[in-house]
Amino acid sequence: MSTPVYFCQPGSAIGGEISVPGDKSVSHRSLMLGGIAEGTTEVRGFLESEDCLATLAALRALGVNIGRFGGNRVTIHGVGMDGFKAASGPLDMGNAGTAMRLSMGLLAGQKFDSTLIGDASLMKRPMERVAKPLREMGAQITTQNGLPPVIMHGGDRLHAIDYNLPMASAQVKSAILLAALRAEGRTRVTEPAPTRDHTERMFAAFGVEILRQGHTVALEGGQTLRGTEIDVPGDFSSAAFFLVLGALAAERGMTIRNVGINPTRTGLLDMLRLMGANVRVRPKPMAEKQGRAVGEPIADIEVQASKLKGIAVPEALVPLSIDEFPVFFIAAACAEGETLVRGAHELRVKESDRLAVMAEGLARLGVEHELLPDGIWIRGGAGFSGGVIESHGDHRIAMAFAMASVRAAGPLEIRDVANVATSFPGFVQTARSAGLQIDAA
Ligand code: S3P
Repeated sequence: MSTPVYFCQPGSAIGGEISVPGDKSVSHRSLMLGGIAEGTTEVRGFLESEDCLATLAALRALGVNIGRFGGNRVTIHGVGMDGFKAASGPLDMGNAGTAMRLSMGLLAGQKFDSTLIGDASLMKRPMERVAKPLREMGAQITTQNGLPPVIMHGGDRLHAIDYNLPMASAQVKSAILLAALRAEGRTRVTEPAPTRDHTERMFAAFGVEILRQGHTVALEGGQTLRGTEIDVPGDFSSAAFFLVLGALAAERGMTIRNVGINPTRTGLLDMLRLMGANVRVRPKPMAEKQGRAVGEPIADIEVQASKLKGIAVPEALVPLSIDEFPVFFIAAACAEGETLVRGAHELRVKESDRLAVMAEGLARLGVEHELLPDGIWIRGGAGFSGGVIESHGDHRIAMAFAMASVRAAGPLEIRDVANVATSFPGFVQTARSAGLQIDAA
């Protein structure tokens, strides 16, 4: 069976006003925290993508009653901290690293065994980074040489740990914090650099006391969560494709409405500004939104076609823009001069090896570059040829190269794009409404 393909024609008129679907990280977390809370949690703006629906199905399999309504509304009837029941089979997390890693934190120290599996990409992703600290807390976990299937064995009560994260990873941090709820004592997690803090913000909305001091987060075990209301902001990582598209080609400007601008996510804004992009962020007062916004700031973002120049990306921005590098490399390829990214080894263990796969695609389109062990060097400004791109089943690679078509000399064919549905349902329609000439077949 052939996999779906995008066909993109070059040189479209880009602009207007768009919005993007709900935030993936916040949507996963709203289900998980709602599931272990006492009482009901109402979620608005939930991202109905394959990744988040994998989390939803896993929680249902663990005995959580979750209602789905039109208009991206979800109601979760929490079962409390000890309310999960053993699932009747393996929990299939599909393509979703967040679903698998955070679920390991949820399932550590339960009384029953659980087996976690995923698709071909997820089955190749490292899980020891989560298993190791959870074992230190007393959990019994088996991986297959560090990879899934992950077996979470039922066992004794967990105990608190002090853990220094060896890599900047919000997934590992969050898994430890979820397990810490069930652990005796105060768990402390120290990150080498700030990473997305949605778990910490959402804990606070569910009534969990969580302390941050410098790069350390501390949480006392034995706390209960109270159901709440959550408004999920638009996903900055989905908006990122259109920010770059706008900076490359929106002569009369483009506006992206209601985007989450949590500062642990918006490194791309800093990078684009350093390149000379004309970007304006218009924050929305929280009061404009109904209900609670789980402490996540929201803005309309305006961007206009700008003359970009290459930059050396400050390493501190890497964890704050980790999912945005595929499309940032497209911006770099269009910027005058050289761009250098270092300290980004984590890109090698995402849904694909994003350094290698982007380098392969840039090569196909005639962009001069050098692949480095922990980054890439790109000489920009020469534009793209047309050609065929293999996305290797990675949603963000597929969407990034769709944006490149606006500066291409010929048509682009992007292969293996089915996984765009893991994070951005309706991507093709949104891209068309922004002016891109894109067809799916
Ligand atoms: C995520 C954390 C990041 C990110 C992923 C979502 C999260 O992964 O790449 O898309 O929701 O916590 P790492 O923690 O592996 O950096």
